[in-house]
Amino acid sequence: MSNIKDKVVVITGASSGIGEAAAKELASKGAKLVLAARREDRLKKLQEEIQKDGAQAIYKVTDVTSHEQMEELAEIALKEFGKIDVLVNNAGVMPHSFLYKKKVDDWNKMIDVNIKGVLYGIAAVLPAMREQKSGHIISVSSVAGHVVGAGSTVYAGTKHAVRAISEGLRKEEAGNNIRSTIISPGAVATELTNSITDMDLKPGIDKIYEGAIAADSIARAIAFAIEQPADVAINEMIIRPTSQDR
Ligand SMILES: NC(=O)c1ccc[n+]([C@@H]2O[C@H](COP(=O)([O-])OP(=O)(O)OC[C@H]3O[C@@H](n4cnc5c(N)ncnc54)[C@H](OP(=O)(O)O)[C@@H]3O)[C@@H](O)[C@H]2O)c1
Repeated sequence: MSNIKDKVVVITGASSGIGEAAAKELASKGAKLVLAARREDRLKKLQEEIQKDGAQAIYKVTDVTSHEQMEELAEIALKEFGKIDVLVNNAGVMPHSFLYKKKVDDWNKMIDVNIKGVLYGIAAVLPAMREQKSGHIISVSSVAGHVVGAGSTVYAGTKHAVRAISEGLRKEEAGNNIRSTIISPGAVATELTNSITDMDLKPGIDKIYEGAIAADSIARAIAFAIEQPADVAINEMIIRPTSQDR
């Protein structure tokens, strides 16, 4: 029997790309989904699709930059399903730019969504997981959590932070049977590059994304981490397109 069946999985950024693909993959393996993002129409459509295929899903419109809304998300998951087995901290933004352009609003957005969102997610689910003496927190970092490129400085900083936070979490919670997994994708064909407004960078990024792989490649990696037996923790996976040389 699948080790995913009946697990309650909360996914942030479930309204598109990797989060949406992960929700579909896990639903097909019998998980109970709690879908979170800001675009309600997308969440509702995904919930309907999952339910049509015979799996269970609820959604909650959530901005991950709000500590309060993240706490409410965890409360709703617990109220509906009685436990939280997995949190997938997936929501993220990537408005790349060169530092000299001083796009301070974009820097703040990346820090708020990519770092604080992950921390608020951990804060929201950790009490229940510690009490259950089981749990799994998967956070989506990036190849940019390993490699810094000109123009991706702040984004790479946030994704390095995600890796540091996930590794610290792993050490702190190893004794409580809580697993920590870092998923570090390369170029994946999603809506992520739409947030880039620096037109000096866009053509170079578009070139890299010509070889992008489908979001379900990352969804399968997430499922693989979840379906391991409880005493096996997949701590990190880097998943690049075969053709990506950076
Ligand atoms: N695509 C890639 O090449 C790639 C590579 C490495 C890492 N990643 C990482 O993968 C993750 C998923 O990105 P993606 O590629 O699937 O891009 P995407 O299609 O743009 O999805 C991003 C998701 O994040 C959500 N989001 C953004 N801001 C949010 C906020 N304040 N509160 C709640 N949700 C928010 C969006 O939903 P709403 O707008 O509806 O809120 C959306 O569902 C990100 O962490 C990204 O950094 C992607």
